This record gives sequence, C-alpha cells and structure tokens, in this order.
Amino acid sequence: MQSNGYVAPSLTPNRNGFFDTMNTSHQQYRNDQIEGVSIEELTERFGSPLFVFSERALRAKYHEAYTAFSTRYPDVQFAWSYKTNYLKAICKVFHEEGSIAEVVSDFEYEKARKLGIPGHQIIVNGPYKSETFLRLAVSENAKIQVDNHQEIGTIEKIAEEIGRPVNVAIRVNMVTGCEPAWTKFGFNFESGDAMLAVSRVCSSEHLNLVGLHSHIGTFILDPNQYRVSMQNLCALVWGAYTQYGVEVEYINAGGGFASANTLHYQYLPGKDVVPSFNQYAEAICDTLLLNLPKEMPTPKLYLETGRALVDEAGYLITSVLHGRHSGDGRQSLVVDAGINLLYTAAWYKFDIQTTQPFEGPVGPTTLYGPLCMNIDVIRQEVYLPTMSPGQTLLIHPVGAYNITQSMQFITYRPAVVMIGLDGTVDIIRRAENLEHVEALEELPERMQDKPVKNDRRRNGTNRLTSELADAARR
Ligand SMILES: Cc1ncc(COP(=O)(O)O)c(C=O)c1O
Repeated sequence: MQSNGYVAPSLTPNRNGFFDTMNTSHQQYRNDQIEGVSIEELTERFGSPLFVFSERALRAKYHEAYTAFSTRYPDVQFAWSYKTNYLKAICKVFHEEGSIAEVVSDFEYEKARKLGIPGHQIIVNGPYKSETFLRLAVSENAKIQVDNHQEIGTIEKIAEEIGRPVNVAIRVNMVTGCEPAWTKFGFNFESGDAMLAVSRVCSSEHLNLVGLHSHIGTFILDPNQYRVSMQNLCALVWGAYTQYGVEVEYINAGGGFASANTLHYQYLPGKDVVPSFNQYAEAICDTLLLNLPKEMPTPKLYLETGRALVDEAGYLITSVLHGRHSGDGRQSLVVDAGINLLYTAAWYKFDIQTTQPFEGPVGPTTLYGPLCMNIDVIRQEVYLPTMSPGQTLLIHPVGAYNITQSMQFITYRPAVVMIGLDGTVDIIRRAENLEHVEALEELPERMQDKPVKNDRRRNGTNRLTSELADAARR
C-alpha cells in the first residue's frame, strides 16, 4: 500500500558473508608480540608452529592464587599438578615459587624426583598405583592418597612387611553439582563408603590417617561446589576425631578452578565469566574455618590447582598454509598447527588473534589444522580478515594439558620456548625430528637386508627422504 507517501519497509537479508561491511573493525584481534618479544622474531628463530610460555605470567598467576588462599587460611600449600604441564621448566617455576608436586603415576613421580623434589613433598594420587610404585612411595614417605579398598589392603601388606605404620590420606568422591560427578575416583561420601574407609584406616594398626582429599572435577564454574566438598570433608574430619581421636594433618581441596578459556557452549568470553581465585578461596576457606573442629590444630590446606595456573601463560603461534572462500563467503584457512597439538580445542573456543595490521573487512572463518582428517578443526567459527600463506595467528590460552596430551601424528611436534622475566627466550622443548620419533622403533633384523620390490623407486625414496631431512635441518 502506498498512501500519504508512506513506503513500507522491507528487510533484505545480508548474504554478503565474508564482505559484511559491519565487521570492519579488526584492530581488537591484533597482537604482534608476546611479553614484548615480536612474534615475527620468534618464528624466525624457532619456526612455526611454536608454543610460547611466559614466565612472568606463570609466576603472576601463582602469586595471585597463593595470596587469595593464604590471606584467608593460616596454613596453605600448593602442589603443582604435573599432568597439567610437566615440562621441566614449567614445573621448576612453580617449585621455585614454593609448590610441592602432585603426581598421578610412577612416571610423573620419577619426573618430580629427578627435578629434586623429595618424596615427602610429593602427593601421590591416581586410580591405580602398582604395588611397586606404592613400595617406592612408602619408602620415600610420599603423601599417598588412597583411592580404593584394594589399595588400602596393599598398603597394609607393605606396612606389615616393613614393620612400621604408613601415613595415608583418603580420596573422597561426592555429589556437589558438578555433572557428571567424578565417581571413578576415591570413596563415595553419600553411600557411607568414605566414612567406612576412614574407620578402616583409623582402626588399622598398619595405617595412620593423616589427610582427606577431594578433587570434584575440572573447570568448575560455581565456587559453591567447593562449599559442599569442604563441608563433606569436614564431616569426615569430625568422624575421625570423635570416633577414633584422630586429628588429621591436612585437607586437600584438589584442583578444578577454571582458566580464562571459553567453553564451546559459552556465549561470553571465558575471561568475563570465570570466578576469580578470591571467589574460590572464599568458598573453600570460609567453609573449612566454619566447620572444622576447634578443639584440634587447624589442618594444613593443600591445593592441586592445574589449568588455572598455567593455561593463560601459554600461546601457540601458527602460520597460514592456504585459504579459500566458499560460495557463501565463508573463509576456510588451513594452518600448520592441528588438533594433535591442541587437544583442548575439543572443549574451548580459543582466542585467535592476527599478528599483522590488515586492511579490509573480517568475515566468518573456519580454522583447520594441517592433518589429513576432516575433524582437524581448531575453531569452527572465528571472524578473521582474508589471510595469505605465511601470515601468522596467535592462539591463546593453550598452556594447560595441550603439551602433555599432544601426540606425534603425521607431523612433528614443534618447539616450546619460554620468555624469561628479562625477555630472554629459551627453548624448553626442542622440535621433534625423525630421529626422535623413530628412537624406539626396531626393524627386525630379518627385514633389514631385504630389498623392497622396486629398487629404482627405493633409491628415489631414499634420496627424497634425505633431501627432506636436509631441508628440515636448515
Ligand atoms: C587429583 C587431581 N588433582 C588436580 C588436578 C588438576 O586439575 P585442574 O587442572 O582442573 O586444576 C587433577 C586433574 O584432573 C586431578 O585429577
């Protein structure tokens, strides 16, 4: 209808996709340095992809966490969760700051011992500890946190053999609101099994109950869940105290604090929604101070925080290999870092920043890794400008779990460097090459001298392999 000069409005869908002119601001994505060290310089020196850790960020996070807890509770001790990132240099930074070690296997225990951490400063967790490992841990007075009844029996047997009681703590699982509850580990609170374990340990002539532990889950976004876990541990402390006269030496609140990453289902960026260390500390310390028996000495509080201490200190620089646009304007970029390096891409929408100034608009982009698999997706959708081969992107935060869970698959794993407090950049893990990857392989002797079918091709292949090796060395 067109009366009185009125023109009915019409809505036209914007199908421009990539060339959506509303998305012209890309300055916010740009970051050409880490801790004052230029990204260009880093890739020139160490290649791409490249993991980069900031020593300053590691230490700053530790201080923030320690301050939050030590200002609320009289006796606090952090234990660095090795599985989160067990590169020697990373562990060393946390040990220098005052952390003891928390390990979940004999391999991690060996690593901590090799770094100079004595057994009595190592918390030993895990759903399975072999008898050999338990014997070592007992002989070195490690802080063993028992996981199940069978393990209690094995430790009792060892104690009987060595003729002295062994100190143990008990790991407890429970319903706190973390879904699904981590019932794989420890003794269940609600069923009464945890109190049964307390009774069993307190009544055993071979064991001393020294601690109670719970690790309720990871990336816990609601600090109130720790109020529940601490309340439950306090109930067990009361049980041990009133029924057996046992005063536990420590409470271990485990890990689980969220890092400033963004989960796939989250709308707002992680950094705007994750609780602060102060909020976690308030929940844990308030509950303990309110509920612990006043008649006994206040137990030490252990924390096994992993990802929240290390995630944001880690970056990954990756280079664009090639890109294309589909009919709807969506950009597909293939970069040189795949999900074999970024295991946590399964959980997180990483922050992706360009490292050079760009003219022109940004548009919806899928970021693929270089692996020959369609599931090799680093970010399903991120807004980026048109990018050319060789340009770099900065992926963050990637410091937690990616190094320890990365796998050598199709490509070599890249170097890892750390930027020191004075800006010095050191390699903390060298880039892999064929020698590393094949170090444990054996070609049975009977196969060694057998020629492959087509000798001419074999010679060609050998030449190609040595040319590639030369190129890699350059
Ligand atoms: C027993 C134990 N403690 C500590 C941690 C570290 O957890 P997070 O990285 O969530 O802090 C883990 C990890 O799952 C764990 O299993």
